[in-house]
Amino acid sequence: MKSSKKDFFELFVPGRVCLFGEHSDWAGGHRRTNSELTPGTAIIAGTNQGMYARCRKHEGELIVRSTLYDGTAAKPWHVPMDIERLQQEAAAGGFYSYAAGVAAYMLEFYGVGGLEINNYKTTLPVKKGLSSSAAFCVLVVRAFNQVYELALTTRAEIEAAYQGEIATPSRCGRMDQGCAYGQIPVKMTFDGDRISTATIRPGGNFHILITDLCGKKDTVRILSDLNASYPFAKTAKDEAVQRCLGEENQKTVAEAINAIEAGDAAKLGALMKKAQHTFDRNLIPVCKELKSPKLHTLLGDRKISRLTYGGKGIGSQGDGTMQFICKSKEARAELSGYLVSEYGMPSFDLDIEQPASIRKAVIPVAGLGTRMYPYTKAVSKTFLPVVTPEGITKPVIQIIIEEAFNAGAEEVALIVQPGDEPIFEKYFMEPSDPEVLAKLPPKLRAEADKLTDAGKHITLITQQDAKGFGHAVLQAEQWVGNEPFLLLLGDQIFCSEEKGGTARQVTDMFQKYNETQSVIGIYEEKLENTVHYGCVSGAWIDDITMQLQRTVEKPDKEFAELYMRTDKRGRKTYFCVNGIYVLRPEIFSVLRRQSEESRICELQLTSALEELRIKEGMKGLVVNGVYYDTGRPFVYAGTVGKFAGL
Ligand code: UTP
Repeated sequence: MKSSKKDFFELFVPGRVCLFGEHSDWAGGHRRTNSELTPGTAIIAGTNQGMYARCRKHEGELIVRSTLYDGTAAKPWHVPMDIERLQQEAAAGGFYSYAAGVAAYMLEFYGVGGLEINNYKTTLPVKKGLSSSAAFCVLVVRAFNQVYELALTTRAEIEAAYQGEIATPSRCGRMDQGCAYGQIPVKMTFDGDRISTATIRPGGNFHILITDLCGKKDTVRILSDLNASYPFAKTAKDEAVQRCLGEENQKTVAEAINAIEAGDAAKLGALMKKAQHTFDRNLIPVCKELKSPKLHTLLGDRKISRLTYGGKGIGSQGDGTMQFICKSKEARAELSGYLVSEYGMPSFDLDIEQPASIRKAVIPVAGLGTRMYPYTKAVSKTFLPVVTPEGITKPVIQIIIEEAFNAGAEEVALIVQPGDEPIFEKYFMEPSDPEVLAKLPPKLRAEADKLTDAGKHITLITQQDAKGFGHAVLQAEQWVGNEPFLLLLGDQIFCSEEKGGTARQVTDMFQKYNETQSVIGIYEEKLENTVHYGCVSGAWIDDITMQLQRTVEKPDKEFAELYMRTDKRGRKTYFCVNGIYVLRPEIFSVLRRQSEESRICELQLTSALEELRIKEGMKGLVVNGVYYDTGRPFVYAGTVGKFAGL
């Protein structure tokens, strides 16, 4: 929750793989001396695996606790925040030297104080071409950045992590710190000493498998052989190396970016095959170490070809690690099993996923809750308890916030009544009582962590007077800004078998139609109940998607029968709004105008929806899932049992 009472910060930094353009970082660096060379360019992506940590300020020391890949805790380490001492520690080498190198840089350039960082979990294997040392450097930079509120950009974090790592005996490449961007693909360009970065938006999902070839590779040898062709080519072979890592690579990277943006896995796989072929043809003549027999055996394996669209080496190449673009998740699972049984090679998954277009969610919880009186005299009804099917007791609002995060929201705004802020702050932000924590079983301790994590992404906005649902939404105008957002009611919870939950289906549909029209979740309702809800009618685009032709708030039976009837496979029926909306930001100007013109004290959302629908068009999506109301006494009583699965 946005507040100053934070005790510690939670961090995650993934490893990174190079999808295309290995070796182009140092090759592009040679433009320092030969400006005729083509700049280097690469596409990197964060791995699913990474390093987790908690950090907080410390008076005068750098204290690091670390957990290895196999789960064992390394011996804690500490050093005073003194530039000379830190530089000595950095130069001494070893795992903690990275933290010292980074701390020395942060102290010199930003005047930071001490830091306590507890890397409590590491799922990233080391020395597999996944830049685990760079991930650790980025983790330490980010910890300083958060704790001292330095407001460094990701690009600045990358620079600091690089400077920190080169203060140690380890030699890293310029593309390693790209993991700072998280799990999205990034294009990096290397021109002499300058690097630039641009994120790439995947237009679909890519199922990648990273395989440890369990072979030998001599990186020092590979780098020395290839560097011999720079900065000026002396032979035709040198020219071929420079062309391969220069123009040819630039062309492949441009095509690969198009394939990623188009969500075209088949094209991306084909480009990997082509890139490997070009790499082999031009680089093996100057470096025998790149013959990589194991890698080529796998590329020639028929079963592997059947399961994948293509693959290529990773990192410095050789028989270290390789990657495959798999045809589906199932194909990837089959390939992973096959590689173990046939070749004894372990693998792990890398998912590049189409990001959700919705980053922000708004949940109004400032209503008076008169139907739940007198309970609401004490506490907002959004704090009514429900029991999850896993047997955990949570307030309604927590379930709704989880739904928003599952739908892709990164930040949530709660519209609250004046005076209600402390209860939200206490619940989502303040750490649980240590005595209570100590008594909790692991399952509930994990819940405590999740809660604190969620709190960091929640903002409270006050609605001074309860002037209706539409008025509550209008309070979020500034916070949302000019982007589409997810709106959820504060008294309805959902249950869906589908991955990502119910709201996710609505955000996905919004994206499917290129974000041009707002989408609202709808469900089939009995005629006699339309009087309680927002009601819609329209024409079906497909079995679950309706182009809305009318939205009306709580129509009575006669009106609904005349105007709101919808034909569903030859059956006359009615559809109501289920409280999940993905709205384009234009809704705010409609609400603002209606609020200014309105003489009645309540501003409803439905009339603004109708105006927006007329202006831009709007779709309704029949979501796959069940929704439960918690805002009416007997309905709530039933909800508690049904939601728990009783
Ligand atoms: P309801 O229509 O259920 O109203 O609001 P209510 O005030 O909560 O409950 P009753 O009708 O008096 O029993 C739907 C959602 O909009 C929020 C509510 O908190 C609920 O999540 N809301 C409503 C506001 O935030 N502000 C308002 O002025 C009205």
